[in-house]
Formats: sequence, C-alpha cells, structure tokens
Amino acid sequence: MDYKDFGLVNTKQMFANALANHYAVPAFNFYNMETLVAIVAAARDTHSPVILAVSESALKYMGDDMLRGMIWGLNLTPNENVALHLDHGSSFESCVHAIELGFSSVMIDGSKLPFDANADLTRTVVEFAHKYDVSVESELGTLSGIEDENTQSATSSYTNPDDVVNFVNKTGTDSLAIAIGTSHGAYKRKSDDEELRFDILDAVAKQLPDFPLVLHGASSVPEQFVKTINEFGGKMTNARGIAPDQLRRAVQMNICKINVDSDSRLAFTAGVREQLATHPENFNPRDYLNAGRENIYANCVDEIKNIMQSGK
Ligand code: G3H
Ligand code: 13P
Ligand code: ZN
Repeated sequence: MDYKDFGLVNTKQMFANALANHYAVPAFNFYNMETLVAIVAAARDTHSPVILAVSESALKYMGDDMLRGMIWGLNLTPNENVALHLDHGSSFESCVHAIELGFSSVMIDGSKLPFDANADLTRTVVEFAHKYDVSVESELGTLSGIEDENTQSATSSYTNPDDVVNFVNKTGTDSLAIAIGTSHGAYKRKSDDEELRFDILDAVAKQLPDFPLVLHGASSVPEQFVKTINEFGGKMTNARGIAPDQLRRAVQMNICKINVDSDSRLAFTAGVREQLATHPENFNPRDYLNAGRENIYANCVDEIKNIMQSGK
C-alpha cells in the first residue's frame, strides 16, 4: 500500500517548513479510535501539521487492518500535512512491515547499539525506505524510561556532538533524535530546577545547521491531569515533566519534532476517572471514553499553540 493513497505525506517538507519558521511538528502517539480522532481534530482545528506516531506495541494492539481502516476513515488530503510514523522501530523487518502497511515515516531506533552497528542498521533502513519516498528518523544517545512495552532503560547517555555529522553522513538519515536530558514516561525530573542540556543541543545544532533534530520523552505532564487522576482514585506521586518554557527554547534551536505520548495518556485517564467517579450510575462506555477523548483534544490544541507553535 502506498501511503499517498491514504492522503498522507512524508516528513521532508514538514521539517523544512518547521526549520524555516521556527516551530516543531507535534508527534502524538495513538492506539485506538478515540486517541486518533482527538489528535487529528486538534491538528485540523489549529491548521497544524501532525505526525501520527504508532509504537510497535500499539500496532500490535490495534492490528494491521484495523489501523489501516482507521487511517482510511480520516479522509486525509496531502495539504493537511499528516504523516503516519513508526515510533521506536526496533529492527529492519519492523520498518519494512510498517512501510508495506502504508506508513510514510519510520524511526529505526539503534540507540542502544554501538555507534557503527547503529549506523549500519540505520543505513540499511534508509536505503529501503528511500526507494518508497518514506522518511527515516534515527537516534544517537539513549533516553531513560519506558520506550515501548518491551523495552525499558534505567540509564541514559547524552548525545556526543562530535558524533553527529559522521552519523548523518554515514546513514543518510532524514532526522536525528538526540538525548539532552528528556526521558520517557511521567516521572522525568526529581525537581523543577532540573534543566535540559542546552549546551549539548547548541553544540549539535552548530554541527548540523538546518538539519531536523527530534526530541523524544518531551511530555510536560500537565499538573491538572495528575491532580484529577489522584483526586479520583489514582495514585501518581511525584509525576513531573519537561517545563513548557524549556521546550519552547529547544524549538528555537532546531528541534523540529517533539514527541508526546504520556500527556495524552494522562489526559485520557483523568477524563475517564473523573467521569466514572462523578457518574457512578452510568455504565455507557461512550460517555467516559468521550471524556478522555475531549481531554486529549484540548491538551493537543494547547500544546500545538503554546509549545510546538505549529498552529493557531
Ligand atoms: O516512546 C514510546 C511510547 O511512549 C510508546 O509506548 O509501547 O506503551 O505504546 P507503548
Ligand atoms: P513521553 O513519554 O514524554 O510522552 O515521550 C513520548 C515519546 O518519546 C514517544 O516516542
Ligand atoms: Zn520516544
């Protein structure tokens, strides 16, 4: 299946526009109809480009045919600038499978491999993907936290700015995710004073001017969702994300894709918990699923306007 038949685009022009106009394209993860529809409605209503990110475990959860049916059902047109992206692809085969399904962009995550093995794997994926005009993201440096249901890393290592030019030249990658202190999940920082390593970002951006850089693990963990979750029976202590002003600063320094998954999970969970707790007599799933969906929509609109600055 050619992704163009779905009305999807790859990320090439999206990132060129983002770099030229100093904003970041949001990459929001989805895993069912409610999350997908909320994200796409937010992008449409703000006229923002958007990257629909699917992890390997989310793909397994939805199933290949159901995913394609849902993308088909969006009735996208190329001028809406929507990409379908494999998040944290773990192997060449996984990327090929996504491309065959109709993804317009894939990430090959060889970040835990030694430099040469990561570069070789990335090169192999790039050679295949480019035959189909599909974009490739890769990663140098590792983030801590849960990346996928199956992979969890307790340690992190910052990206070495001296490696990036060599890696990009060797691989032909279209964008590069770097590690500057963000991490996956809802427990990112011990205190509010912890800053991202802007010195590393600055050094990387100087090495790779006009090259699309990507920030994973960039949820801001909005306080109101954590509060609502805890108020209505949840237990999330010390959840803390990346401060929005730090994300905005990163956007001005060549970060042109920002990945957000945890914020949508929090938004959805807060909506469902509140709806169930305040309407104990109700047993209609459409009501509580819709509460989750509305929360995701509102949060995506807010982040598009105030963090990514990719839409109005
Ligand atoms: O960074 C990746 C996502 O948060 C994916 O998580 O495998 O549970 O969908 P998941
Ligand atoms: P968060 O856990 O910060 O939302 O990160 C998501 C991500 O990086 C997906 O690839
Ligand atoms: Zn990630």
